[in-house]
Amino acid sequence: MTQPFPDLSIRQRLYGVRSRIRRFRWELAAGGRPLVRWFPRRWFTDPLALVDICSPWETAWVTRHAAEELRGTGAVVELGPWLGGITLGLLEGTSRNPLVAESVIESYDLFVFDDVERRTVGLPLEGRLHDGGDFLDLYLRRLGDGARRVRAHRGDVLESSWDPERPIEFIFVDVAKSWEIWNHVVATFYPALQVGSIVVEQDWAHACTPWIHLWHHRWRDHFRPRGQVPNAGSFAFELSRALPDAAFEPTDMTAHSDDEIAAAFEWAASTVDPERQPNIRAALVQLHTLHGDLDVASRICVQELASSRIPSELVEVALPELALRLAQDGGRDDQQPG
Ligand SMILES: C[S@@+](CC[C@H](N)C(=O)[O-])C[C@H]1O[C@@H](n2cnc3c(N)ncnc32)[C@H](O)[C@@H]1O
Repeated sequence: MTQPFPDLSIRQRLYGVRSRIRRFRWELAAGGRPLVRWFPRRWFTDPLALVDICSPWETAWVTRHAAEELRGTGAVVELGPWLGGITLGLLEGTSRNPLVAESVIESYDLFVFDDVERRTVGLPLEGRLHDGGDFLDLYLRRLGDGARRVRAHRGDVLESSWDPERPIEFIFVDVAKSWEIWNHVVATFYPALQVGSIVVEQDWAHACTPWIHLWHHRWRDHFRPRGQVPNAGSFAFELSRALPDAAFEPTDMTAHSDDEIAAAFEWAASTVDPERQPNIRAALVQLHTLHGDLDVASRICVQELASSRIPSELVEVALPELALRLAQDGGRDDQQPG
């Protein structure tokens, strides 16, 4: 299988290399040092690395985990691989670990581009990737020989199933973008976790998926936190005690009291570095915006805005969503007869 975009010039491949090196050095000093041996060298010159959504430190973390910790006791699953940055790390790490060198990675994605045109503006790949386009072939070609060890499941993850009798040793979750999907992921894949299995929640130190914080807070006594990936939002949990059936039941806003919600986000924020704590508090705003009360969301949002730091995902994710909903709400009020 030919590698993608063989026609790109050296100059195009080296696009942004200086800023990539600067970023690498800065992030190395900001906690990346333990992962440097596992850092993906291709990241400096791969044109697709500029389109990856996960950080190269997340790739380095999964590479190290696969190389040093996987025992071959269960499947390796990736939900939402996009263009395969994490898959490449899993392939690299497993290939260095004799216990799992021939393991297969079960990879689930729609494999249909969404928002890729905006992401590639100004980059060497501008104009080559199109919203609505199928990217399964590109994904597999990027994996090179490793593609033979990847089973790609194309389609809506809401339609996916998993035999609960087939253990999962490692799962990387970057697909739970709605509460419905989260409920499905938990009900479908998490019953196959064994004590010692690792779950990486990619969306942990981010604002857009508050259902993940609520669930992990409720079941926190069943997991040992393995920590946040440096320079990234991913957080790894190790299952330390079997989950009860109730953990796999679907939840929604009505399943959580106000006190539980407040405690969940305080706890979740305490698990990550100070720089990313505001993102998790922004997830509380997002929770109330999407599933609760816009007044509550607005109150928390203003409190956060008034805090001394500028909480980036509050401004980039939670506030725009809240503003949209408030505008829609106001619009509806305007239409009501006086
Ligand atoms: C944030 S991206 C993942 C980024 C990726 N982990 C990386 O390393 O760059 C989310 C992925 O989830 C996929 N996705 C979103 N909704 C989905 C759904 N309902 N079913 C399957 N895949 C979905 C998208 O196609 C996308 O590849």
